Amino acid sequence: MQRPIGIFDSGLGGLTVARAVIDLLPHESVTYIGDTLHTPYGPRDQDEVRSLSIEVMDALVAQGVKMLVIACNTASAATFDIAKRRYQDTLGIPVIEVITPAVRAATVGSTRNSIGVVATAGTVGSGAYQRAFAHAGVPDVMAVAAPRFVEFVEAGETTGDRVLDAARGYLQPLIDANVDTLVLGCTHYPLLAGAIGYVMGPEVRLVSSAQETAADVYRTLADQDLLATGTAEYRFESTSIEQGPFRKLARRFLGPEVGHVEHHVTGVITLPSPEELTAAAKDIAAKNDESGRIA
Ligand code: DGL
Repeated sequence: MQRPIGIFDSGLGGLTVARAVIDLLPHESVTYIGDTLHTPYGPRDQDEVRSLSIEVMDALVAQGVKMLVIACNTASAATFDIAKRRYQDTLGIPVIEVITPAVRAATVGSTRNSIGVVATAGTVGSGAYQRAFAHAGVPDVMAVAAPRFVEFVEAGETTGDRVLDAARGYLQPLIDANVDTLVLGCTHYPLLAGAIGYVMGPEVRLVSSAQETAADVYRTLADQDLLATGTAEYRFESTSIEQGPFRKLARRFLGPEVGHVEHHVTGVITLPSPEELTAAAKDIAAKNDESGRIA
């Protein structure tokens, strides 16, 4: 099916997931929205993250995507349940998030189950990783927040002294705890993997959700007979007024697939709620019954 996969993040981090999806599924078209106007999501409260995320996902649905990928841990923690109800259960559009795949990848490879998570304040505070690991049989994970990492990535600063100093500060408790596996629980952080890996040392395995999430996308499309076969098209949008900086960094982080970047204007699209959609569907069905024709 040629309709695109809709992928979104608060900014550039979700491109790590988009890259993995494009690599694994070269026939799939992708529409990506980075909500750069509202980045970072990490320090915002859960309700705010929820409404920002729903607005972006509504816009992707309005563009006709066949699947939604929440390529943001903070948004996955805050919105996955509501997104599943709103899009998957009501409209039949499958929704994939990034926390479960990262937990799966971490638990499969950890020899001592000594696992740490570094993520945004919102993700750590939500307890989503802690719950997911407990569910996977690993009740004790150390989770630390590294808020400035997102700022560095959004500014294109992925190496150098400032990044290393921040990494040393944030990661010391995880080094002290002697973790053998570190989950990069924010889709921005793989773009800092050089600095994070250097500070943690070569014995510590870094896990990010990108490949595992792409594998979930593949599985879901294949199971639901939604795989595309034609030529892929890529569309990138960001919500900032200025598209230049996003385009430049998106090309650096994702690659040549990033061509023109559209301005996605937020606050203008209001889709009907699931209840309104159900009521409208009933209304149309009733009219069809009355007239014996399809409305
Ligand atoms: N990339 C996002 C995440 O995975 C959000 C970063 C942010 O906007 O704070 O959590």
